[in-house]
Amino acid sequence: MIILGIETSCDDTSAAVVENGINVLSSVVSSQLKIHKKYGGIVPELASRHHLENINFVIEKAMQNAKCKMQDINAVAVTVGPGLIGSLLVGTTTAQAISNILKIPIVGINHIEGHIFANFLTTNHEPRTTNFKPPFIALIVSGGHTDLIKVMGFGKYKILGRTRDDAVGEIFDKIAKFLELGYPGGPIIDKFAKKGDSKKINFPRPYMPDTWDFSFSGLKTAVINYTREHKNTRTRERLYDLCASFQQSCADVLVRKTVLACKKFNIKKIILGGGVSANSLLRSDFIKKCDEENIKLFMPAAIFCTDNAAMIASAGYFKLKRRRICKAINPVRTRRFLNGVNPSANLELSNW
Ligand SMILES: Nc1ncnc2c1ncn2[C@@H]1O[C@H](COP(=O)(O)OP(=O)(O)OP(=O)(O)O)[C@@H](O)[C@H]1O
Ligand SMILES: [Mg+2]
Repeated sequence: MIILGIETSCDDTSAAVVENGINVLSSVVSSQLKIHKKYGGIVPELASRHHLENINFVIEKAMQNAKCKMQDINAVAVTVGPGLIGSLLVGTTTAQAISNILKIPIVGINHIEGHIFANFLTTNHEPRTTNFKPPFIALIVSGGHTDLIKVMGFGKYKILGRTRDDAVGEIFDKIAKFLELGYPGGPIIDKFAKKGDSKKINFPRPYMPDTWDFSFSGLKTAVINYTREHKNTRTRERLYDLCASFQQSCADVLVRKTVLACKKFNIKKIILGGGVSANSLLRSDFIKKCDEENIKLFMPAAIFCTDNAAMIASAGYFKLKRRRICKAINPVRTRRFLNGVNPSANLELSNW
């Protein structure tokens, strides 16, 4: 089964063609980074306008790269939330039009659910996820989320905890902005940290032991205060140490809480997802800890950690296999599908 995935929840216009939920035939991501950079954050109105300008071209490119014709597509999967409402509507109305014209099913996907399914994807036709069956503990770490999720079955999610303030990707971005390193901050801090010593500065570890929730804004303040108090921090070597020490603090908290959740619920699998799961220290610390604790670990390929439509197509395939489809050609179902488009859609409400 070939699925066209469409993802426009934030500032990336993405389309992908995925076969049987696993084989990525094409994945096109058009970033709006340059447009929003000068405002220091995403301007929702501009984001939706640019989605509208780009979406047809991005879909065409995805079809070309996959060497597919529209008639080869068996279903369309699209992100219905969480995200910016204007941006979501560009993707969902486009998907609906395709579904109507081709008379193929349309399936709505929760963006966070998509990040989980990024673990299925492969570009070399080798199934890399044979043992990727629930139950598992999922840690989704991105620009907007830090969610610890117990996955009991596909579509059966329980959010154990999430951040009470900033998402972990958000503090990478905010700290990089404060240090004038550029945007997005995650990959830059990751690169700088490789040259630094993580033991040089002892930043706090916000473990929040009585809850599965996270809180990162205090750590952000600690890094900013340290920089203000130590004037030499902006020299290259000190900056490397600062990045390494800050990053270690994030990794320690994320690894410890995720492994603790496995122990508490007697689950032996962890899956990661979201842009921050591309972080090299986080990945190597998870590998080390999971080895020690005999826990199976799944991480998406780096290109599928950040937003992409292939993960949406994959989630769509497995959802369709469970026959929760919405035939857009049926007006009653169409209305129900569009009612599901929700900027603050919650994973717990995902209905398979
Ligand atoms: N190597 C890295 N190390 C740390 N953070 C990273 C790395 N690469 C990307 N990031 C961070 O990942 C975030 C983007 O990830 P993603 O595209 O999944 O988030 P988003 O779509 O903005 O948010 P959400 O998925 O919650 O809606 C940014 O905050 C970016 O700094
Ligand atoms: Mg995302």
